[in-house]
Amino acid sequence: MNSTTNVLCIGAGYVGGPTMAVIADRCPNVRVTVTDINAERIGAWNSDRLPIFEPGLDEVVRRARGRNLFFSTDVAGGIRAADIIFVSVNTPTKLFGQGAGRAADLQYWEKTARQILEESDHGKIVVEKSTLPVRTAEAMARILKSNSRGLRFQVLSNPEFLAEGSAVKDLEAPDRVLIGSEETEEGQRARRALVDIYARWVPEDRIIQSNIWSAELSKLTANAFLAQRISSINSISALCEKTEADVDEVARAVGTDSRIGPKFLKASVGFGGSCFKKDILNLVYIAESYGLSEVARYWEAVVRMNEWQESRFVHTMVASMFNTMAGKRIALFGFAFKANTGDTRESPALAVATDLLAERAHVVVTDPKALDNAREDLAGVDGNLVFERDPYAAAAGAHAVAVLTEWDIYRTLDYRRIFNSMIKPAFIFDGRNILDHQALHTIGFNVYSIGKMPLTTV
Ligand SMILES: NC(=O)c1ccc[n+]([C@@H]2O[C@H](COP(=O)([O-])OP(=O)(O)OC[C@H]3O[C@@H](n4cnc5c(N)ncnc54)[C@H](O)[C@@H]3O)[C@@H](O)[C@H]2O)c1
Repeated sequence: MNSTTNVLCIGAGYVGGPTMAVIADRCPNVRVTVTDINAERIGAWNSDRLPIFEPGLDEVVRRARGRNLFFSTDVAGGIRAADIIFVSVNTPTKLFGQGAGRAADLQYWEKTARQILEESDHGKIVVEKSTLPVRTAEAMARILKSNSRGLRFQVLSNPEFLAEGSAVKDLEAPDRVLIGSEETEEGQRARRALVDIYARWVPEDRIIQSNIWSAELSKLTANAFLAQRISSINSISALCEKTEADVDEVARAVGTDSRIGPKFLKASVGFGGSCFKKDILNLVYIAESYGLSEVARYWEAVVRMNEWQESRFVHTMVASMFNTMAGKRIALFGFAFKANTGDTRESPALAVATDLLAERAHVVVTDPKALDNAREDLAGVDGNLVFERDPYAAAAGAHAVAVLTEWDIYRTLDYRRIFNSMIKPAFIFDGRNILDHQALHTIGFNVYSIGKMPLTTV
């Protein structure tokens, strides 16, 4: 790697920002610029208050920013200077036209491809970092080849496997890095250039190289498998509640089988995040477009099970609280889709809050990092809704508390104090199975959790 390698990332979001910060931190001789059309976001990356919360991210950015890590709104200038361009723009579910509600909306992606072509005065390596439908690289390559200036581009697929909440850890010590390329000589050379960057801190045996279609499809498949495990254990949680089996005991017994493994077997109110649902629906759409309707139905069921689990949670709340929520104060502990992030995209809390407001409950939302996003998400939803930073204040005067995010702080609250401040009979619904249910019952709560028999007092 020579000392003048210029890396550009287009898209300064949850993936682009942390990924590039770690590359810059680990490769001081690579100049990394992260660009975005969202000036506010870039302003935040250049400030002391980064636009996203990730444990350890502030330190990494502080070490590299201004040295070989730069954040800028000048996308065009960045493209001209770059040798390697990562494209990490959003690829949400399409909301209109053909494939609405399932296919990936590739408008941001295609605009970026065209802008790269327009601004380039020499050939470049273009890296798909966004999660894309399999064979998108073909479209990208065709757009980039449509120039009469003799510019040659190589498209690589390098999907990102980081998990929000542990992004820095995942990037610094990844299970694997996946790089797919065309099997041509030029493709292999481009692949090598990217391997050389990662090899600065990732052991080479963890850098998997493959053909480009395998790389694209692997990312969709990995997310589908992860989500499928959650929907699988959640489906069993419903059966546990009918049969006096305990889902945590079942998960433990099942997960100790080395062929299955213990991870992603925690029953809960449901999975969220910007990726699982969108990527599975995208997989469903792709399968359908190849006429593989059995494959499509199989994966679609993972998403349907998740939606059912969310609505089942609210159904349990309503049924156990005497079939009426109207006028009752309900404190939601957590709004982020998981702990250690402020991200609320597709959070089950959004579905639960919306359903409770439709039941005319008075909803109080508390979360240590996600209140700003929660406010935005619920802006258009009618009903009696307040936001409260302090969980004790949120619970005071409430008929029920529902734990929706597995934040550590919720494990260690003084639940006797909370109980004393609530309307009786007091209910607690543990949507993450993180609390000591027996202790809560002893305090006097009616305790409902996922996949276990309720502990009731009245
Ligand atoms: N969030 C995750 O945990 C995660 C993990 C792995 C992969 N991914 C994938 O990575 C991609 C990005 O996800 P994200 O969560 O970072 O999204 P994000 O919405 O946080 O960030 C995308 C950014 O791209 C910018 N953008 C869009 N069009 C642009 C353009 N033409 N020029 C410059 N900037 C532009 C947007 O303004 C936005 O800031 C998606 O395909 C996603 O599926 C996400």
